[in-house]
Amino acid sequence: MEANRFEFTSIVALLLLLVAPALGAGRTGRKNRWDQVIRMPGETDGPEEKGTRWAVLVAGSQGYGNYRHQWCLCTMILRRTCLIRGRGVIINHPQGQDVYAGVPKDYTGQYVTSANLYAVLLGDKKAVKGGSGKVVDSKPNDRIFIYYSDHGGPGVLGMPNMPFLYANEFIEVLKKKHASGSYKEMVIYVEACESGSVFEGMMPEDLNVYVTTASNAEESSWGTYCPGMDPAPPSEYITCLGDLYSVAWMEDSESHNLKKETIAQQYSKVKERTSNYNTYNAGSHVMEYGNKSIKSETLYLYQGFDPATENLPPNKIHLDTRMDVVNQRDADLLSLWQRYKRSEEGSEKKTKILKQITETMKHRIHLDSSIDMIGVLLFGPEKGRSILGSMRKPGSAIVDDWTCLKSMVQVFEMHCGSLTEYGMKHMRAFANICNNGVSGAAMEEACMVACGGHNSGELHPSKRGYSA
Ligand SMILES: *[C@@H]1O[C@H](CO)[C@@H](O)[C@H](O)[C@H]1NC(C)=O
Repeated sequence: MEANRFEFTSIVALLLLLVAPALGAGRTGRKNRWDQVIRMPGETDGPEEKGTRWAVLVAGSQGYGNYRHQWCLCTMILRRTCLIRGRGVIINHPQGQDVYAGVPKDYTGQYVTSANLYAVLLGDKKAVKGGSGKVVDSKPNDRIFIYYSDHGGPGVLGMPNMPFLYANEFIEVLKKKHASGSYKEMVIYVEACESGSVFEGMMPEDLNVYVTTASNAEESSWGTYCPGMDPAPPSEYITCLGDLYSVAWMEDSESHNLKKETIAQQYSKVKERTSNYNTYNAGSHVMEYGNKSIKSETLYLYQGFDPATENLPPNKIHLDTRMDVVNQRDADLLSLWQRYKRSEEGSEKKTKILKQITETMKHRIHLDSSIDMIGVLLFGPEKGRSILGSMRKPGSAIVDDWTCLKSMVQVFEMHCGSLTEYGMKHMRAFANICNNGVSGAAMEEACMVACGGHNSGELHPSKRGYSA
């Protein structure tokens, strides 16, 4: 069956940390499939071009329902530094080309971990586990581009292997990298729900790093190009192919001359498009953090340059089509639902998918109601929910004591089961439990009461690892 080509459910591990050294000054004549776009033979260096350009692309989640995080890596930037390989094809747009074949990748499957990401960024060859062993071995004049696409929650980004990436650890890594003096400037793009919360109140301005995120600290980001939407993916793809913010920046990069377009120009276009044209109706607030002076630089210093775009404008194309979207947290269910509808009546496959949908829903409801109950037990029925959901003022991190946050997550998971990607949204509740000075013992007692006797089965952290 033709459709089998696309069944990578269990696999696509995704991974990718891809490191693509672009070219340094002495390699002008070199042409290979992955770096030729970064510079044409015969091009001369401008004064700002000394040094090597590095790209680290990370797709954290796995599984067919998260397909959109993977193809994302394979679009424009991807045309030159695409990294995903495995079974099947990855396309980047409903009418896009197969950009999946022949793509280099460095870390996949079990090696897609936050620890490996940190080691790769720090250029720490000894600490990295598995994979190609490639790290960002950068020098003081180099520029680094990081693109991360995954599920997120307040203060965290997802990883297919536990634990999640926690904001405080990631920022520590950036500080360490800066202290080592091994780059000139760095630009980071992050697509995830609540992605602003990883940097809000956390990201210093003096690290020579500029960050933009798909959403602010308290909202979802959105999947798009899903079955049933307009534009729809080709009928053999029963999943969402993109995320709103990622589609916005990649399509912007593809349609402009990146030697002329600045990061600031891209930021404002992407912000406008991701907001669904200032309606914020099924759209999100693109945010920026870190050193904003870096924005005046041209994009090709980070994303490279495709000679085919030489005659394209610096920043003119106005795409004003509204996109159909789905809340990121529901995109995988939407994909399962579409597969259910398309599988044969009475087949074993149909029954299996249905079971998967009901179990996913059951676990979601269990997580939501346990958190509610814990709020009631700790703070009383009147205030439980409002304390757990309360927002700190803009510019503050979600929590001050990250060690406390992690230990609350562990206690919860031990008694109530794994948070899973969906449950990341409850990170703010754990943060507020810490912000209100609840002790570990009180939390443990509340979790035991709320989840006593709950059988987490495959969703017990002993099977999947703790997410903290
Ligand atoms: C921000 O970046 C600019 C340009 O690289 C630099 O001159 C300035 O010192 C940086 N600001 C901080 C606070 O580090």
